[in-house]
Amino acid sequence: PPPSDGLLSTLRGIFSSALYATFPEAPTLGISIMVTQTKDPKNGEYQCNNAMELFKKLPKPNAFKAPRDVAVALTSGIKHPLIEKLDVAGPGFINITLSTTFLTDKLKNLVVAGDPRPSKPSTTPRKVVVDFSSPNIAKDMHVGHLRSTIIGESVCRILEYTHHPTDRVNHVGDWGTQFGMLIQYLLETFPKIAEGDMTGVDIKDLTAFYKAAKIKFDEDEIFKKVAQQNVVKLQGGDEQCRKIWQLLCDISRNEFEKVYKRLGVTVTECGESFYNEMIPGVIEELTSLNMVVPDGGAKCIFVPEYRIPLMVQKSDGGFGYDSTDMAAISYRLRKLQAGQVVYITDFTQSDHFMMIFDAAKKAGWWNTTSHKITHIGFGTVCGEDGKRFKTRSGDTVRLVDLLDESVRRMEESLLERNKEGKGSIPEGEIRSTAEKIGYGAIKYFDLSRNPTSNYIFSYDAMLDTRGNTGVYLMFAKARLGSIINKAREAGVDVADLEKAGGLELDLGHVTERSLAIEILKFPDVLENVLEALAPHKVCEYLYNMSLVATSFVTECRIMENGVPNKSRLLLCSIAANVMQACFHLLSIECPDRI
Ligand code: ARG
Repeated sequence: PPPSDGLLSTLRGIFSSALYATFPEAPTLGISIMVTQTKDPKNGEYQCNNAMELFKKLPKPNAFKAPRDVAVALTSGIKHPLIEKLDVAGPGFINITLSTTFLTDKLKNLVVAGDPRPSKPSTTPRKVVVDFSSPNIAKDMHVGHLRSTIIGESVCRILEYTHHPTDRVNHVGDWGTQFGMLIQYLLETFPKIAEGDMTGVDIKDLTAFYKAAKIKFDEDEIFKKVAQQNVVKLQGGDEQCRKIWQLLCDISRNEFEKVYKRLGVTVTECGESFYNEMIPGVIEELTSLNMVVPDGGAKCIFVPEYRIPLMVQKSDGGFGYDSTDMAAISYRLRKLQAGQVVYITDFTQSDHFMMIFDAAKKAGWWNTTSHKITHIGFGTVCGEDGKRFKTRSGDTVRLVDLLDESVRRMEESLLERNKEGKGSIPEGEIRSTAEKIGYGAIKYFDLSRNPTSNYIFSYDAMLDTRGNTGVYLMFAKARLGSIINKAREAGVDVADLEKAGGLELDLGHVTERSLAIEILKFPDVLENVLEALAPHKVCEYLYNMSLVATSFVTECRIMENGVPNKSRLLLCSIAANVMQACFHLLSIECPDRI
């Protein structure tokens, strides 16, 4: 892909061209240009440290006596409007000072566009199927599904923001042997169900039924038999079984939708049952490719390096999780013509997916050079005791309770602030603000770490107003917003400045300059984030932006004697826009004021 026009990739491009022009043998020496931002911008904002390595690797004899000479040679050919000045320091470090005119011009472009979003996709966009959330019917959504839901929404937003169309697929567990026992249990204990009447039953009841049915299934041989017959009946289209199954799905679906609505998540249900009728054809095809091996009555696909095979058909003739996923991957790659498929589940399913992907490759469905398939396997959410997150009674934590609690705590602390006279939110807005912050804090807490890591769930940590938390970031953004509001009250509307577009920006103060540089990294960040589908990199950047923006508004007065400094006001607004873009990518809705 062409490099983005972010500062870092532009600099890397400039130095790479100079490297190849000055040292034609460079490609054979295995040198790739490294440009990094300096910690202390006193001697330059960026740095290139390749000269030392280059000196060592250049074939001898040559014209250079020391790495410094190599650095000087490398820099001598460089002329680019982005670079104000290049200094060779110490043994051969190249310090880069950026051109103020270039920075302000770039910022001005952002102002005119109003939106930091890149105007074009960096690669030819192809449809990406994102399989996420995917809870199971008749069971509560748990913290694991929360992770999949939150990460999935963000991954979709990252793709869509960079102009890649997505198919957001909710692969709900709506099929399988558990329905046989549930149906039987309901018929026995809840006879009204036979007439299709399930009034008064909610998801909590379903979870209880599920548990009770499972116990009976394990203890009672006769019950087990009938339950298994129900599975066959259900799969064969038996009217009563289908009807009860449909009712169960409706109740669950209703509950899932409530959660999605609260979290601002969009995902379209296309559950396991959808693929059921495709499975026999898929098995036939795999069999004709000689991939299927009979194994104790079942049909399996063995994948080298994995101890257990994929089971595409069980010994009783039924289809399971593996069968469904083989049919689904075939459908996504061939029927939907996806250019990329992303699966988001907990890490314990990694082996399952690696085997599915491998089988799809062997079957010739997946062209590995042109199509991408990824599994994002996230870690476990733990309680304060470091073990899997559970309620006090040892049950899995219900997602809705967790969301409620976060909002409740936030509401309490906002009311407290009002009581102390520190708050600025009118009574009527407290609830909706607490919801935004409460949900946003949970999302940030989850998204800000590498998904593979486990983490300890802690309300105190995630609702902290200081440190790297969602709450802190929302405060930082709200602070910019309140300055923009004050200026408007004083008669200067930043929107008018933006429309006019032509304002000269002054980057005289060191914090103004740092903020400008931070803002202009956005295209690079976006490119990295897209490549790795990594929301945590958005978080990292957003946190840095908040720090730099906060020191800017702390050290530079934007309102001087009641009069707004227009250049600073504009810079403040651009920063707020970029931060807003990041919040959007994380699906965090930021309150206007806190
Ligand atoms: N329902 C599964 C679970 O709760 C996740 C499904 C993930 N998607 C898939 N295509 N297998 O663990």
